[in-house]
Amino acid sequence: MTTSTWSASGAAAFAACVAAAATPAFAAAPADWAAIPVQTVTLFYPGQVDYGWLRSAEHKRANAKVREGEACLSCHEGEEAELGATLVKGGRHEPVPIAGKLGAVALQVQAAHDDANLYLRFQWKTQMARAGQMHDYMMYDGEKWAFIGGPRSKEAVRSGAQPPLYEDRLSVMIDDGKVPMFANQGCWLTCHTGMRDMPGEPTKEQVQAHPLIGQTHKESDVRKYLPATRTDEAASWDKTRAPEEIARLKEAGAFVELMQWRGHRSNPVGMADDGYVLDYRLVDAGKGPFGWNVDRKTMTPKFMFDPAKVGVKALALADVGNASKPHALIREDNAVAYDPAAGWKKGDVLPGRLLSRADASGSAADNADVRGEWADGQWTVLWTRKLDTGHADDDKALKPGGVVNVGFAVHDDNVTTRFHHVSFPLTLGIGTKATISSVALE
Ligand code: HEC
Repeated sequence: MTTSTWSASGAAAFAACVAAAATPAFAAAPADWAAIPVQTVTLFYPGQVDYGWLRSAEHKRANAKVREGEACLSCHEGEEAELGATLVKGGRHEPVPIAGKLGAVALQVQAAHDDANLYLRFQWKTQMARAGQMHDYMMYDGEKWAFIGGPRSKEAVRSGAQPPLYEDRLSVMIDDGKVPMFANQGCWLTCHTGMRDMPGEPTKEQVQAHPLIGQTHKESDVRKYLPATRTDEAASWDKTRAPEEIARLKEAGAFVELMQWRGHRSNPVGMADDGYVLDYRLVDAGKGPFGWNVDRKTMTPKFMFDPAKVGVKALALADVGNASKPHALIREDNAVAYDPAAGWKKGDVLPGRLLSRADASGSAADNADVRGEWADGQWTVLWTRKLDTGHADDDKALKPGGVVNVGFAVHDDNVTTRFHHVSFPLTLGIGTKATISSVALE
């Protein structure tokens, strides 16, 4: 994040906050985080271990217990680092290991709250010696624009033909007890055969032809979903329940909240996205912080950097990781309409994504005070969330004295999909005893 970027949107948000007066959110966040206890959670690399495998005979002597709903931690407590070290190397659960990838990430979590908000502080060391804040970049080759780089799992990146360029992410899942088994088995309920980068992936055409996933959601790949939204015991991706039944589950709150802080697509505007998992990984109602900066018909960018504000109209690949250069296009801050006649040179780079805090709205814009700073090899992310967002349709309300189930994940060092590190499910108590207990502020 460039300092100027945050100070502009941060100052605006602060001014709006003071003007509203009813929500002294910024002012009340812990002034001294050193006084708040730190819980270290070991996140580990899960490979392709999914819902189906955990219930199969290959998960020796554990399959029946897992079907009955037994907690992963009742057998695996303290084994996270060991599991991660084995799985990341490759083998039956990882057919395409990423050379040198670490098996575990130590995530430090602190929590505090007042009457209005929950304040979370996360810290973790990155494997790469720079912030992962590049995503979907496009490069001009002298004639046309094309996407450049990608996650380390991509063939062209593995072979060295393209650079690793992908944002870091921190994901938080919340269940308030309404999703059967989430307390014991956490995110493994959402991870299935057939999803992106998992075994048994259907073709794009098969997904597009599916009445719910393809035709209603307009998706062409399979992402997270909950077993209760499927009709068969294996919870197959294509055996979806009728839309009315899924609507009833949503009404009853039987979804998992899933929020993601993103190094490129949300952090530059001081936000995290806000979504939920039910029959698919879905976005809350309204508009989140990011969209595309690409005209798909002409394959040209829609916006470029405003040289009057940031000194350049484009970047070069050599600027990646240079903190004095911008790395994200923000509509209201540093962008102007793309000018095809601006004298583009081979090697010019522009983000393929356009961010906007000003255009974000509704429940999808609830995480409007989330700021990450990368320094000395680690991210520190400060996350303010209203205890009750007022959007019960797609959010979980937190109450002082209450406990919710949570799961965390970090996507570290240019990775996407399953190439992340995850936690077993834990509990978060708002001023009550739990794995992570939030401290009540005066
Ligand atoms: C009743 C005890 C028990 C429960 C509950 C249990 N496991 Fe296991 N798990 C085992 C045992 C035993 C093994 C070792 C099996 C083997 O070596 O093949 C194992 C193996 C694993 C492995 C290692 C696979 C490998 O190839 O290295 C993973 C990952 C795993 N379990 C994840 C989970 C998750 C996630 C859950 C919760 C959804 C869970 N387990 C629940 C007993 C359990």
